Parts: sequence; C-alpha cells; structure tokens
Amino acid sequence: MDDRGGSPYDTAMPDSHEPPTAPPLHVPVMLDEVLAALQPQPGMIVADGTLGGGGHTRALAERVAPDGYVLAFDRDPAALRAAERNLRGHAIKLVEADFADLPLVLAQLGVPAVDGALLDLGLSSDQLADATRGFSFDADGPLDLRFNSGEGEPASALLKRLNEQQLADLIYQFGEERLSRRIARRIVERRATAPLETAGDLARLVRSCVPRSAGHAIDPATRTFQALRIAVNHELASLERALAHLPDALKPGGRAAIISFHSLEDRLVKRAFRDDIRWEALTRRPVRPGDEEMSLNPRSRSAKLRVAVRK
Ligand SMILES: C[S@@+](CC[C@H](N)C(=O)[O-])C[C@H]1O[C@@H](n2cnc3c(N)ncnc32)[C@H](O)[C@@H]1O
Repeated sequence: MDDRGGSPYDTAMPDSHEPPTAPPLHVPVMLDEVLAALQPQPGMIVADGTLGGGGHTRALAERVAPDGYVLAFDRDPAALRAAERNLRGHAIKLVEADFADLPLVLAQLGVPAVDGALLDLGLSSDQLADATRGFSFDADGPLDLRFNSGEGEPASALLKRLNEQQLADLIYQFGEERLSRRIARRIVERRATAPLETAGDLARLVRSCVPRSAGHAIDPATRTFQALRIAVNHELASLERALAHLPDALKPGGRAAIISFHSLEDRLVKRAFRDDIRWEALTRRPVRPGDEEMSLNPRSRSAKLRVAVRK
C-alpha cells in the first residue's frame, strides 16, 4: 500500500513546479443513486474502492465531513496524482492499492471497519482519453491497458506470449466474443511478421475479422479490448477477492454499493450478495441509470448498481 497523506484531511500538496491539472473528464455514474444507497452521514468512514476522477469520492466526502472521511483507493498512480490536486482540502485519504486489499489497509490504519463501501468498476474516461495507455482504440498509443504500468505485463506482451488456443480462450472468456478463434488465429498470423504494438494495430486487426453488425454502434474491437484489459489487470480475480473480504471490512448495518459495466462483473456481484449469508441484498434487480443520464452520459448505458447491507 502506498498510503498518501498522514491524516484524513492531508491530501499531499502539489509541488509548486507542477502544472495545474485539468478537471477530470470522468462523469460519476448514478451519483444520486449511490448516495441514496450508501446514506453517508457526518462522522462516517466510507471506502471508495475506485477513486477514478473522484466524482463519487468528492460527493461522499462532502457528506461525511467534518468528522468522517473517505478512504479512496485506486491502482492508477495518475488518478491519485490528479486527486491530490483536484480534491485538496476535502475529507479524503488517498491510498494507492487494489480495493481487494481493503481489510489489509484498514488493519494498517488501525480502523476496525468502515460504514460504507463503493466500487465503481472498470476504467475512467480520463484513462480512456490518455492516448499513451492503449485504452482508446482510435488512438495509436502503445497497447498497454494496465491501470498501473508498474504492475504485471502490458497487453502487447500478452499478445506475444500466449499461444493461439490461450488467446482464443481469453478473448472468449473475458470478452464474450463469439469470433474469438478467428481473432486469435489472425493475431498469431500477424505476429509472425510484425508485432502488434499499438492499440490501433489491434483494433484494425479485429475490425478486419469481425463484421460490424448493422445498426449497432459498438465498435467490433470493444470485446477484444475488454478481454485484454480484464486479463492484464486481473480484474475479475480482484473483484472476487474483494467480494469475499468486503463483509469483514464493513460494520454491521454498513452498506456496499457496486456498479458494474458488463455481465461478467455483474454476475459475480449478484451471486455474492445473494449467496453470502453475511449480506442482505437490497436490490433484487440491479438499479439502472435513468433515460436522461443515459443520454447525457453514454458511458452510463451499461451500468448496473447493486446494493447490500452487512448483517
Ligand atoms: C470507473 S472508474 C471510477 C470513477 C469514479 N467513481 C468517479 O466518479 O470518477 C474506475 C477506477 O477504478 C480503478 N480501479 C479499477 N480496478 C481497481 C482495483 N482493483 N483496485 C483499485 N482501483 C481500481 C481504475 O484505475 C479507475 O481509475
């Protein structure tokens, strides 16, 4: 854990040579619904496992101040650096760690349990917009796809290392891509002559073997990129680990709110809230954004929010 800040209010000050940061691009999804679910009150400690652009964190911090605070996690050092500047003075403690390590971080901080926890899964619009990280397949940045470029291997290395069967399995399992075998075969053919180094290289290859379905706005490369991103960041393993330990980190009566963006994640959340006897699920069906939010923020369209209370 890289625990940034000594007291809850101590987000580190930027050094004077640092250029001012632009405000985050990311628009928090289902903000009102999250606040209604977690019911943050002054004095509470709430864990936000996915700081991102800090929209949810800020709103939670405003409600738990002055005596409470938000413990805001991200694996991405860039998200934490931006928050150090943009959220200065708020009741927030920033932590560079995987949200699955919440119990460990609480133990290190001497906090027995929190009053609420939020996970807003996946990647932020700020990560997507950064052409150097490979998340956007329209930008020809290096095919990295890691939330933290200091951990694990970039997606370009995975594409070199795995054999055709492993690639097909990965794209099928994590991308739910029907044409995974065809894509894997094309990747192996292509890398024999030239490596796939950029997001654009891979996007063009996938588009050349997956027909764009008529009337469907989603880019044919989306599922393959999702699969690689999940793989290099071990996203499902992290979520499973977090779900197993989250009840230990919450006070009785504490609430957990989890926003997922694809069925692989939502399935894990749904099962955990339904089958783990430590939870009482408050949402039998997931909460979806309203029409207005979906039209204002297209990224919200696939979002599903599930909420449970710790018994
Ligand atoms: C969808 S964004 C969160 C947006 C945020 N709620 C907001 O309002 O701006 C998800 C963020 O979680 C981070 N993240 C993803 N998986 C993580 C994990 N296992 N542990 C910690 N952070 C993670 C990503 O780096 C990204 O910044």
